[in-house]
Amino acid sequence: MPSIDRRHFVLGSGAAVLGSLAQPLDRLAVHVGGREELKVGLIGCGGRGTGAVINALNADPAAKLVAMCDVFPDRLDASLGRLQKSQHAARIQVDEDHRFTGFDGYKHLIEAVDVVLLAATPHFRPRHLAAAVRAGKHVFCEKPVAVDVPGVRSVMETSALAAKNGTSLVSGLCYRYDTPKREVMKRIHDGAVGRIVALQCTYNTGGLWHRGSKPEWSDMEYQIRNWLYFTWLSGDHIAEQSIHSLDKILWAMQDEPPVKVTASGGRINRIEPKYGNVFDHFNTVFEWKSGVKLFHSCRQWAGADSDVSDYVFGTEGVAAIQRHSIKGANAWRWRGRSPSMYDNEHVALFRAIRENKPINNGDYMCKATLMAIMGRMSAYTGKTITWDELMKSKLNLTPERYEFGPHPVAPVARPGKTPFV
Ligand SMILES: NC(=O)c1ccc[n+]([C@@H]2O[C@H](COP(=O)([O-])OP(=O)(O)OC[C@H]3O[C@@H](n4cnc5c(N)ncnc54)[C@H](O)[C@@H]3O)[C@@H](O)[C@H]2O)c1
Repeated sequence: MPSIDRRHFVLGSGAAVLGSLAQPLDRLAVHVGGREELKVGLIGCGGRGTGAVINALNADPAAKLVAMCDVFPDRLDASLGRLQKSQHAARIQVDEDHRFTGFDGYKHLIEAVDVVLLAATPHFRPRHLAAAVRAGKHVFCEKPVAVDVPGVRSVMETSALAAKNGTSLVSGLCYRYDTPKREVMKRIHDGAVGRIVALQCTYNTGGLWHRGSKPEWSDMEYQIRNWLYFTWLSGDHIAEQSIHSLDKILWAMQDEPPVKVTASGGRINRIEPKYGNVFDHFNTVFEWKSGVKLFHSCRQWAGADSDVSDYVFGTEGVAAIQRHSIKGANAWRWRGRSPSMYDNEHVALFRAIRENKPINNGDYMCKATLMAIMGRMSAYTGKTITWDELMKSKLNLTPERYEFGPHPVAPVARPGKTPFV
């Protein structure tokens, strides 16, 4: 079992990772042509964003960080402080004029850079992505890409624009860039487990961080600082965290989306008001056109057992995706080295830019986000939801305005009472 400790998961494994990437980096240097320097900007200066800057600078020796943006100045300063103490300190060149804050800071950042790293709170992703792609910038885009269907529709349009413009769009669904998972998937797609008859995936973890409250914080500030616990900001943990598992299954199914889902869920452990309006567990059954079903569960319960695993059951064997092994007629186990998938994403992005061979991950990042939203909406409403119904959803979680002030928390969903919109 790989570690599912979130901090380790986000930052990767340091020196060993760099050593293992020597070959791709050398090869990349050969292809650095035209303009040597690539200016990178970060939007959303939290744990993942800070890690993504390190991954980007690991990947490309001629990239430097020149601009940062966070809605809160203290978050930007903390991230900058960490980066200035990193192994890439010399390429952290963010002067005072390029430190942008507030809700509109991203617009200024985009003007100043060639490559934009999007790692803010999921709710804001569609607008950040649209602005970056419209300005012709290359993008690394964290998951999930939206929290509601109108948001995903916007990202679908933006992805199509990136493809038209020939700019790269690399998704933060990092397992797709994990070498051993690429190997196990290749085998599944080549028929190593025979015909797929069923699927199972689990993302059970403990509790995550909570950043507390301060009397001077408005409702809006409190919610954005503790965004995990508000559906309008995170999409709930099925979208924010378990999307990784859903995406691995989507990948195993060669990116064919399911036709329907029936889900249940609720909050049994994290019931205090400080946990906003998200659920703490989901159980979902997705079904494909062929009749194949995915049994998926996810939960965030402090003190309970953790498990992150995904299985593909076929007529010839069983693949354990997270363990990189196959049992049955074509038994196999990954025994090679595993470079950091987080670095790999950026090696791929910068190589695509240098070689002018754009990557566009728009299709699967939208479909995986839709699967997660579909599961959440089914659990919230208690309804079976088809893909076609989902795509007509008008539920838009955007607040009337982005400003620091009162912002009441929407009630916790009640299956059977909360309507599907
Ligand atoms: N791929 C992965 O394995 C992985 C791992 C962790 C997190 N993530 C994703 O990365 C994103 C960030 O997660 P995190 O753990 O770094 O959270 P975080 O809270 O540490 O960082 C998010 C930052 O975004 C800032 N922010 C919020 N709204 C903003 C806005 N409108 N403009 C600019 N900045 C804004 C916040 O102030 C915060 O500093 C999330 O989408 C999360 O799902 C991905």
